[in-house]
Amino acid sequence: MTIQINAHNLSMRFKERVLFHIPVLTIGPNEAVYLKGDNGVGKTTLLKILSGLSKPTTGFVDATNDGWFRRLFSRAGRKDVIYLHQSPYLFDGTVYQNVVYGIRYSKESTKDKRAQVITALRMVGLETLADEHISVLSGGEKQRVAMARAWILKPSILLMDEPSASLDQESIDRIVFMAKDLLKRGSSIVITSHQKNALTELCRKQWWLKDTTLVESPLLQVITDNKQENNYASSHAN
Ligand SMILES: Nc1ncnc2c1ncn2[C@@H]1O[C@H](COP(=O)(O)OP(=O)(O)OP(=O)(O)O)[C@@H](O)[C@H]1O
Ligand SMILES: [Mg+2]
Repeated sequence: MTIQINAHNLSMRFKERVLFHIPVLTIGPNEAVYLKGDNGVGKTTLLKILSGLSKPTTGFVDATNDGWFRRLFSRAGRKDVIYLHQSPYLFDGTVYQNVVYGIRYSKESTKDKRAQVITALRMVGLETLADEHISVLSGGEKQRVAMARAWILKPSILLMDEPSASLDQESIDRIVFMAKDLLKRGSSIVITSHQKNALTELCRKQWWLKDTTLVESPLLQVITDNKQENNYASSHAN
């Protein structure tokens, strides 16, 4: 589903320290944004505010769906905005249980849910570890489980906090594949990263958090072999 988030007069202060003040901020519909900035400037804090996990010191964030029909019948608020943690929280259970968690109450049959989980695990290359306990996985594998768990929810906006920090090239490519799939479905993504890579190259817009404010600028489009893939959701948006 395609939604837009609008934030107004956002500021965050910890005691006397002003982390940032952002007069206006918009994400979506169907955008890919690269959020960059030095350690400690407030990228994680901003993503948590946008997802509703943290409350800003001033300002507000609202999410609008893309049509009257969806507004009437879709889930309200920011349930469709998912924050993918810098250090993912996974619970005590198997890989499968962690991924199916997000859709445990959906109305689909157990068989359909299982098929979705297996598809997600296959996309991140972990289907053979489905029945393993989460504690035996490496850091990079846990990051991929967290991505599978986020993808399965098909969020309208996925906020990815350093998703590639502990990933090798093949794993980054898998995350890129999932991010492209979400973009084709009409979702938006925001990616923080200290290094440019295949994931940040998906982005058409840059947010640079520095000197307590956010500077927005366009990013040059990357030409790939498959132009259609980069054409986001023009023909898939619903
Ligand atoms: N609850 C809190 N109380 C006090 N200070 C906080 C709190 N949460 C975050 N901070 C401070 O706010 C600053 C920004 O933190 P944040 O995690 O958003 O940075 P970041 O840009 O994501 O950095 P990194 O690139 O290292 O991930 C840090 O200096 C941090 O110590
Ligand atoms: Mg951070």
